[in-house]
Amino acid sequence: MLIHENYSLRHYNTFGIDVSARWFIEYADDEDLSRLLRDEYFSHCKSIHIGKGSNLLFLKNYDGIVLHSGIGGMKVREEGDDIFLRVGAGILWDDVVIFVLKQGWSGPENLSFIPGEVGAAAVQNIGAYASEVKDFIHSVEVMDKYTGHGYAFAASECNYEYRYSRFKEDNSPFIITHVVFRFSRNQGRCVTDYGRLYDDLPDCPTPLDVREAVIRLRRSKIPDPSELGNAGSFFMNPVVSPQQFVEIQSRFKDIPYYSLGEQYKIPAGWLIEQCGFKGFRQGDAGVYERQALVLVNHGKATGADIARLAERIVEKVQSRFAIRLTPEVKYISAVAGPLVPKIFSEETDLQTFSFRLVIRRSDTPLRLREHFRISLREGLLVVLCSPDTCFEERAIQWQLQTILRNVLRDEAKRLLPVRLSMLAERHGFIYEDSKVNSARTRWGSCSGRKVINLSCFLLLLPEHLIDYILLHELCHTKEMNHGTGFWRLLDEVTNGSAHRLRKELKMKGMQ
Ligand code: EPU
Repeated sequence: MLIHENYSLRHYNTFGIDVSARWFIEYADDEDLSRLLRDEYFSHCKSIHIGKGSNLLFLKNYDGIVLHSGIGGMKVREEGDDIFLRVGAGILWDDVVIFVLKQGWSGPENLSFIPGEVGAAAVQNIGAYASEVKDFIHSVEVMDKYTGHGYAFAASECNYEYRYSRFKEDNSPFIITHVVFRFSRNQGRCVTDYGRLYDDLPDCPTPLDVREAVIRLRRSKIPDPSELGNAGSFFMNPVVSPQQFVEIQSRFKDIPYYSLGEQYKIPAGWLIEQCGFKGFRQGDAGVYERQALVLVNHGKATGADIARLAERIVEKVQSRFAIRLTPEVKYISAVAGPLVPKIFSEETDLQTFSFRLVIRRSDTPLRLREHFRISLREGLLVVLCSPDTCFEERAIQWQLQTILRNVLRDEAKRLLPVRLSMLAERHGFIYEDSKVNSARTRWGSCSGRKVINLSCFLLLLPEHLIDYILLHELCHTKEMNHGTGFWRLLDEVTNGSAHRLRKELKMKGMQ
């Protein structure tokens, strides 16, 4: 196991942003990881897991533990024409592609040359040229970060969607250790009918021909991160309803699109180019001159510079097309969470929607090895600390943050689903299910299957803003994106206050 303190992450994010981690830990195998998860100091620290950082934007130094997998190895098992390949999460994805094609097998050729490691590929369901990695995943082996227990999920249990899986959820407790892929021994027909890929291939191409064509195409559109920092596509391609598509197409006759059942996927790169951003530069943050979906770091851009440019693009696309772009890239900040006090002490007095938090130092010693005693009664959460508590210690701050987050989570699970269902009934919305998580970057979201996710940090907002978020997500059960139809509906159910409430919420720190 490698442990570094105050470690530069410049080589662990393809944007090349110069940030550092308080701790950087690379574990070598399952045993190392399991030992780490049982460690008391570790279990109290805030941590994130990264691969090669090809889909991350660090907004500041990470004041916690950054974990990286050093699990390697590829093991082949053959069953008839099927090849099962069990690969360690720390192996580079493209090494898997090269290995498979070199054996004369087929499958992953369209996913050639995508940067990043196997674990991250399975988290974000990487995709290109009409292929997605989920098409080749048989099962995913994980370890639970809190209990250290190992599990294997069949691909069907991973909730795979476009650039999404259960492992991408903010509060997912799982660390991927291995991925088992299934490839074919036979060289079946390659998938080549995607965009310009077809133009660039011989008749009856082999998987290796396809790999070469894909590499040529990728090189022509995505800069090499070692020369120009970037994270591939910055935004996801938005999906719009047939009504919205017809409306946009009437104004822009040559709009490119892909049909997706009854809906339409529009290339975000096209929307961004139409807004005049291709090749645009704002300081050292820029839009790539050959693919408008790729944001680049021309040298010394900070994560905040890139995020500001992204925000400017989102606003412009929104006002021109009434489509709100969603970043594919994950923003990482080491803040404790919106509205959460940065430092806890005896002066802390925090009023939440359901309780008030106060911290007291006990006059008498607590039980052996007991640092805190917690009681939540009649809306008052008292955290009693042992007399020798030193609030300057990092570990104490982490523990207090964890206590607050756990209580917020329990309270949110008790209160938010009831309130959501009450509002849904009042305004005639139907949703499938609701879940509470500890997301720090989003108050809520609504999936295509109408499952509403809510952050427990909502309880730090005043009542009228909590209702605004719940209604916002409920409106997404009818209007998938932030088009004019969506805002009209949200305005209706908030008595004409949607824009005012949105502005008020923005001051609170999350979107
Ligand atoms: N387009 C423009 N202007 C631009 C860029 C694109 O008009 O500056 C339009 C063109 O009509 C073009 C279409 O958008 O034909 C599609 O562009 P492209 O083939 O480059 O693909 P994309 O939709 O922008 C997606 C993936 C890429 C993947 C390619 C190829 C997403 C968010 N991105 O990009 O994935 O390599 O398809 O399959 O789905 C990544 O996720 O990091 C990534 C690079």
